[in-house]
Amino acid sequence: MEKKNLDWANLSFAYMKTDKRFVANFKGGAWDEGVLTDDDRVIITECAGVLQYSQSCFEGLKAYTTEDGHIVCFRPDLNAERMERSCLRLEMPVFPKERFIEAVVQTVYANRAWVPPYGSGATLYIRPYMFASSAVIGVKPADEYQFRILVTPVGPYFKGGVKPITIRVSDFDRAAPHGTGNIKAGLNYAMSLHPIMDAHRQGYAENLYLDPATRTNVEETGGANFIFITKDGKLVTPRSDSILPSITRRSLIHVAQHYLNMTVEERAVPLTEVASFAEVGLCGTAAVISPVGKIVNHGEEICVPSGMDAMGPVLTKLYDTLTGIQMGRIEAPEGWIKNIA
Ligand code: PLP
Ligand code: COI
Repeated sequence: MEKKNLDWANLSFAYMKTDKRFVANFKGGAWDEGVLTDDDRVIITECAGVLQYSQSCFEGLKAYTTEDGHIVCFRPDLNAERMERSCLRLEMPVFPKERFIEAVVQTVYANRAWVPPYGSGATLYIRPYMFASSAVIGVKPADEYQFRILVTPVGPYFKGGVKPITIRVSDFDRAAPHGTGNIKAGLNYAMSLHPIMDAHRQGYAENLYLDPATRTNVEETGGANFIFITKDGKLVTPRSDSILPSITRRSLIHVAQHYLNMTVEERAVPLTEVASFAEVGLCGTAAVISPVGKIVNHGEEICVPSGMDAMGPVLTKLYDTLTGIQMGRIEAPEGWIKNIA
């Protein structure tokens, strides 16, 4: 199939309408079989649960063109499992894992002309999401839901690609203790919009959120988990019940241990420890690994030794290995790559 005529190398992280999207409806206690459709519009009642009480959740994963020309996606089973946890926490019906994976495959296949070519630096972002579609006015879960998958070709999440960014320690929290920080609820992102706009107005690319219970440990940013490299080459990453369990982070832990022979520590990371690290990165599907060059804590600047010019050497090795696995240059662990075409 002929590829779309896009300037692949210069895409930003933005929505572009593609040809097909997957839609399934939950009604009368069951999911219908779902369809691929050209229609990008959603028609719901003015009183839909998603509009009144934000009952919605979503996922994010990517499809890649491999070096040998196949189209694949990365660990969709883990997105299905995480969405199941989001749905249970939000009293929404689960879209079964095998059907989730099949719907991802079908949607990407139907839009294969939009999957950026190998080597272009772009990827196809896949956004599965679910929302309450029937009316509620008392505070309660809706009876009907819609599950959809849209895809859109994207470039780097942060302007400048893999150039180090400057972030700030936020006075806002992204999650409550025992709240919804560990699921991918739309409401977590709604409440991050003011902090992120405020950060941008002050010249920062993102917010570093602290743990909401004690405000002493590093949690994550609005859209990515942290990974730190110690001066002796260990990977340290925050463990907390209120951060989103990133699939990229979990994959990088495996890559560090089994491909790069590194020691990994998953534990609380006090903000006071951050100045001691050699490299700092943000990791996620959208962010991949984005290096952090500077962290500003209320006027105090923490300058990461790897600097503002380029990603440090250990993060670069992790980045090259992970993207090598995703794009078929390096053999993947069993079950990580789902072949689509
Ligand atoms: N943390 C938050 C708050 C996110 O929105 C994301 C993006 O999905 C991540 C972390 C990274 O998770 P993943 O690697 O599964 O994309
Ligand atoms: C992702 O990485 O898939 C996300 O959902 C993060 C979002 C901020 C774009």
